Amino acid sequence: MSFFYLLAFWLASLSLVSAQTWSDCNPLKEDCPNDPALGSEHSWTFNETMNAKLWNTTNGEIDWTEKGAEFSIKEKLQSPTLQSTFYIFFGVVETHLKMAKGNGIVSSVVLQSDDLDEIDWEWIGSNNTEVQSNYFGKGDDSSFDRGGYHYVPDADTEFHNYTTYWDQDKLEWWIDDELVRTLKYAEAKDGSRYPQTPSNIRFGIWPAGDGDNKEGVIAWAGGEVDYAAGPYTMVIESVRIQDFHSGKEYEYTDDSGSWESINVIKGNSTAVEEINKPPPKSLSEKWDDLPTGAHAGVFVGAATVGAMLIAGFIFFIIRQRRKGRLEQALDDTNWNNERTERTEMSNAQSDWRQSEWRHKGYSQVN
Ligand SMILES: *[C@@H]1O[C@H](CO)[C@@H](O)[C@H](O)[C@H]1NC(C)=O
Ligand SMILES: *[C@@H]1O[C@H](CO)[C@@H](O)[C@H](O)[C@H]1NC(C)=O
Ligand SMILES: *[C@@H]1O[C@H](CO)[C@@H](O)[C@H](O)[C@H]1NC(C)=O
Ligand SMILES: *[C@@H]1O[C@H](CO)[C@@H](O)[C@H](O)[C@H]1NC(C)=O
Ligand SMILES: *[C@@H]1O[C@H](CO)[C@@H](O)[C@H](O)[C@H]1NC(C)=O
Repeated sequence: MSFFYLLAFWLASLSLVSAQTWSDCNPLKEDCPNDPALGSEHSWTFNETMNAKLWNTTNGEIDWTEKGAEFSIKEKLQSPTLQSTFYIFFGVVETHLKMAKGNGIVSSVVLQSDDLDEIDWEWIGSNNTEVQSNYFGKGDDSSFDRGGYHYVPDADTEFHNYTTYWDQDKLEWWIDDELVRTLKYAEAKDGSRYPQTPSNIRFGIWPAGDGDNKEGVIAWAGGEVDYAAGPYTMVIESVRIQDFHSGKEYEYTDDSGSWESINVIKGNSTAVEEINKPPPKSLSEKWDDLPTGAHAGVFVGAATVGAMLIAGFIFFIIRQRRKGRLEQALDDTNWNNERTERTEMSNAQSDWRQSEWRHKGYSQVN
């Protein structure tokens, strides 16, 4: 079983997610949408909540802290997982990570394609000086010679740089500045089991040694999880990802699953557009950015959805607040009202056009 098969079946058995988690659509068996490409190179510092259009939390919750993204098992059966919405078609994935120490806890970095090619880093929590490398072609797990075992000092307390280099000829696993393993195309069953189709990137932690799991899995995971001794946390500080192709999407043109069958569709990737967007502003920043008269315009926007009276009330509240008298003037109930209404207003605000209120002459209001 490949790693994400195991994880997916486990989650499915708990009815947490559908058994489709590892691949929503297998293009060798059915028609699937094209894979959105990264088509570029980018580094992410995982020190604040990531753009959800690029990074999807597919299970559980991740704690975004200044020191990195914390993937924690705090209670039985928790298994936070993060997945890129974009794919790379050969490239480099560099992850700066601290594994979670603890019997039965598995930390992982996985590249996974829709037809189940897979490239793994895995840390078994019972050994904090080892990382395992692995790969699968088309989900085939019939041979037992694919796993690699590599020494890495203090993997739970020190960030190390785990880099996967992947092209059509070879796959390399690097720890810091050291090349620890190379897999050549021909070495993977003459290439037929060589990972070679566009892959997304997944990070996750998993209590594989949960007492309810099969004995074999618990043994593989280094023993049974002691939840009382938790939480168990994997931390990712930063990630650099490079796509060796530039384009908008990747398309499977037949059911061979070979890299030659992948068509790179030209264009700007939506991932790059997201990356280049200015960071979203908070509501209060947006509010402050508006010209003075616009503040009134926002209320007009609210009025058009039938909230004129309420908006007027909010207007009053905000004026009070700007005069620094809000604390005294309002009780808790009013606070809550204000928050709710401001959220509603943000919708009106985003639709709103400056010219509209000018035409309507509301610039005099404030
Ligand atoms: C996160 O790290 C980036 C790059 O070092 C920095 O520019 C940014 O201010 C940091 N954000 C937070 C919330 O610390
Ligand atoms: C994010 O993951 C959830 C859960 O797997 C899924 O239902 C949703 O479609 C995903 N969203 C994107 C944008 O990929
Ligand atoms: C941990 O892994 C290292 C590197 O593979 C190995 O030398 C060591 O024996 C392992 N320790 C245990 C307790 O299994
Ligand atoms: C991480 O390791 C890779 C492979 O050795 C290297 O190319 C890269 O520069 C390293 N990154 C940092 C930030 O040192
Ligand atoms: C891609 O982006 C560039 C630069 O932003 C722009 O000039 C070009 O028109 C875009 N191409 C398409 C197909 O949208």
